[in-house]
Formats: sequence, C-alpha cells, structure tokens
Amino acid sequence: FNVPTPANEPVKEYRPGSPEREAVKKALEDFRSQETDVPMYIGGKEVRTDRKLRIAPPHDHQHTLGYFYEGDAQHVKEAIQAALTAKDDWANLSWEHRAAIFLKVAELIAGPYRARINAATMLGQSKNAYQAEIDSACELIDFLRFNVHYAADIYRQQPASSPGVWNRLEYRPLEGFVFALTPFNFTAIAGNLPTSAALMGNTVIWKPAYSQILSAKVIMEVLQEAGLPDGVINLIYVDGPIAGEVIFNHPDFAGIHFTGSTGVFQQIWGTIGANIHKYKTYPRIVGETGGKDFVLVHESANADEVATGLVRGAFEYQGQKCSAASRAYIPSSLWKAVEAKVKQFLGEMKMGVTEDFTNFINAVIDERAFKKITAYIEEAKQNDTVEVVAGGNYDGTKGYFIEPTVLLVKDPNYRTMCEEIFGPVLSIYVYEPSEFENVLQLVNTTSPYALTGSIFAKDRYVIEHVAHTLQNAAGNFYINDKPTGAVVGQQPFGGARASGTNDKAGSALNLYRWVSARTIKETY
Ligand code: SER
Repeated sequence: FNVPTPANEPVKEYRPGSPEREAVKKALEDFRSQETDVPMYIGGKEVRTDRKLRIAPPHDHQHTLGYFYEGDAQHVKEAIQAALTAKDDWANLSWEHRAAIFLKVAELIAGPYRARINAATMLGQSKNAYQAEIDSACELIDFLRFNVHYAADIYRQQPASSPGVWNRLEYRPLEGFVFALTPFNFTAIAGNLPTSAALMGNTVIWKPAYSQILSAKVIMEVLQEAGLPDGVINLIYVDGPIAGEVIFNHPDFAGIHFTGSTGVFQQIWGTIGANIHKYKTYPRIVGETGGKDFVLVHESANADEVATGLVRGAFEYQGQKCSAASRAYIPSSLWKAVEAKVKQFLGEMKMGVTEDFTNFINAVIDERAFKKITAYIEEAKQNDTVEVVAGGNYDGTKGYFIEPTVLLVKDPNYRTMCEEIFGPVLSIYVYEPSEFENVLQLVNTTSPYALTGSIFAKDRYVIEHVAHTLQNAAGNFYINDKPTGAVVGQQPFGGARASGTNDKAGSALNLYRWVSARTIKETY
C-alpha cells in the first residue's frame, strides 16, 4: 500500500502584489470587519454556553475579533462520551480511510484555507506573514502528510513467521480516549497533537490554549470539511484544572499528547501517577515542554553567521518558541564583531502590527506574558552585573510590544541564563577562549532543560568534541545554524531532561506512542 511520497510544502513569499499576499489581506480584512463566533465542537455539534469570552489580537488588544464559549465539567464529560461513542467505528475503519481524511485536510490548508488559517494565526497569535506561513500552512501540512507516510511504515512492519506458524502484529489504537493539550505558539503543533493520535485510530479531546482559539476554529472547519466523522476530535474550551479533574479521573483516559510548560506537565504527570489504579490501561504520556536553548560559539566561528543565527534564533516570533535561542556563550575574540552585527540587524528591524507585512517583530501573546518578560528586563536593568546591550524598552498600551532585548551578563548563572523567559530576551556571556572547556560544562549544567542548542565553529575537532560532550543537552542539536525552525520530515523535533519525553514530533517515534499492538500467533 503506497501513500503519496511527501515533499515539504514550499514556503510562499508574500511579496507585495503577489496573489498570496492579496488573499491573506482579504482574509485579514474579513476577520477584522466581523466578529467571529467560536463554539466548542462536541460530537460534531457546535456547543455554546453563556460564558462568552473575547478574542483580541495581542498587537491591538482593544479590538474584538470575536467570542468563544467557555465550557465546564459537564462539557468535558460530554466530550469524553462523544469520543467513546465514536471510537469503535473510527478504530475499525481501515487506516487508509483515516489517512485519506488527513491528506485531504493537508490539501485544503495548502489551497483554499491557506489564507484564512494564516490570517487567523497572524491576528490571533500576532505572527507576521512569514512566521504564520511556515507554521499554520507549511508545518501543519507537513505534519499531516509525513504522519501518513510514517504510519504507512508502521502498519507495514510485521514479525517473522515460520512453517506452520503465521505471526501478525495488529497495531490497535489505545483503549480509551486521548487528551490533546496544545499551546498558543504554533498552530501546527496545535493541529498535530490531536490529528496524529487520531490518525492512529484514537478519538480525542482537544483543549487548545485560549490564545490560539481563532486558528483552532479554522482547523476544526477544515477537519469537518475533509469528512472527519463526528466525535473523533472534540474541541473544548474549559479551564485547565476543571478539565483535568474530569479527564484524569476517568477510567477510559488512555493518553495525553501535550505541548506546554514544564510545570504544568510535571503536575499532570503527578496527577496521572496518583490516579494510576483508576485507569483500564497505563496512559501514554507524551509531552514537549520548556527549553533554555543555547548557542555556543567557538573562536573559529564566523561572526556574521553567529549574529544571523542569534537574531533569528532569539527574536523570530518574539522569542516565543520553546526552541528559541535564549543563552549564548561567545568568545571575547569575536564579541565586538558579533555585537556590531547584532545591533545592525536589530536596528533594521521594524516592530508593529502583523497586518503591515513589514514588521518583523510583533507583540507577545498576552498581558501575563508581557508582565513576566518585562519583569525580567527591569530586574536586569537594576543589576550591576548586567548590561543591556540592545532593546530594553516596551509598551503595552495598544499591544503587548517588547523590543528585542540583549543582555550581557557577567555571571554565567544569572537567572536569565537559567530560567525560561519565553519572550524576546537573549542573554550573552562573553568568555575568554582559554576557558572553553569550563564553558562547555556550563552549557551542559546551567539549566535543567535539553531541547535545542547550537554550536558555531569551523574547527571540525571542536565540533566533534562539543557534539559528544553535549550529547544529552539538546534533543535537537544544530551545527552552524540557529536552534529554531525544525522542518517536519527533516529534523524530527523534541527534547529530553526537563524539556519532555522526546517522542519526536513529526516522526514514527511519536506515532508508535498512539498504538497498543496486539501480537497474534496462528498455527496451521
Ligand atoms: N518546532 C519548532 C522549532 O523548531 C519549535 O516548536 O522551532
């Protein structure tokens, strides 16, 4: 059985006057000029409650884009019931038919829904057109197509048989429902977490972040148009602890597919552990969590390449990527050249609303993030051992805007070198080249995370030595490149230590977690 061999979806450029730019402008205008009504979707039905919450662009927070309806424990129960009701038919459908639906979803996003989903991501999550395109169009399309490709590989794998014995492996879905808890920062991740589990025959409760609801609605529209049967993916907006109370006490809870903060994931893990005797089966726990991603620069590196990697790695999407470069170690011999180039790049970058198409920097996601990030900046300004090399200003009156901020720290264990900030703040420690081995140890031990990291060097012996020494310090390790922007099918993504279970998104490793295989031995 063959599936179309996937190629990565080409990234459109949105040049002035291009058809894709015109289409996205129209879609932005449509969202801007009317309020979008966003119900929950339970068992294929739209569900509205009397708790209506506002959706606003982070870069223009007084503007109302629409409303969504918050549910309660009863809605969670109904969603679980809908998932369990839909389960047998969905699990028994041959996998090719499930795959066909998700391939259709990819085609719809690549074509008729591309402008709409990108516009929803630009407005709802404050991404510029390029960041929206690589996320809600290309990466989501790639996840859908490559997952089908990997699933085909999985289903094909069968054990050996012998004369008179025929052995089979039946890749059953998990017994129960899967809970997908998804983040605001990537529409692609929000789309991948429920659909990857569903592709493998599971039915799903999907709870998105409240700040990603506009693009979540577009995903749901596409799923429905592609013919996803009712109840396979149920989209609910319910406060985390309320949803968790119902879900993690339910005997049919069979797995969680999570991307979000380390703290929440650890709490969930503890709850699942405490309730373990209540479940029919051991739930699969798959999570991608925080990061404190490093850029280590060796004196043999090229300063311009380092500056490009730092600026793109640290500040694209305002640093709100779990993969974002947030701590860098630069030799004193290169620092002045790197500093000059970083300042030049930052000086050329515009900050403002996403609809303008020339603003590289947009707003951070919400008031809570704005306060948290600016508190770090204020504390750094007060600290004698920290120099603000670039940025440091912010203004939350119209939108949650924070300048890309570069901090030069004297103490390599200063808190902005250790703690995840999830915003446009890059901390830099400048070291003497003779200290390189110590710095390598610092990179390995300064933070509990191990998501992404980069080494910039030309010396091949150094690259090999660093790659070996830091083998557990990053699930995605980049040589002479920024630590962000993993491409589905090319760099399977995920980290270990406090960064997650490292079940690489967009790979067979991930899909294996959503099946519970039955071995059948038949003698004849
Ligand atoms: N996959 C994204 C990246 O690599 C982060 O989630 O940047």
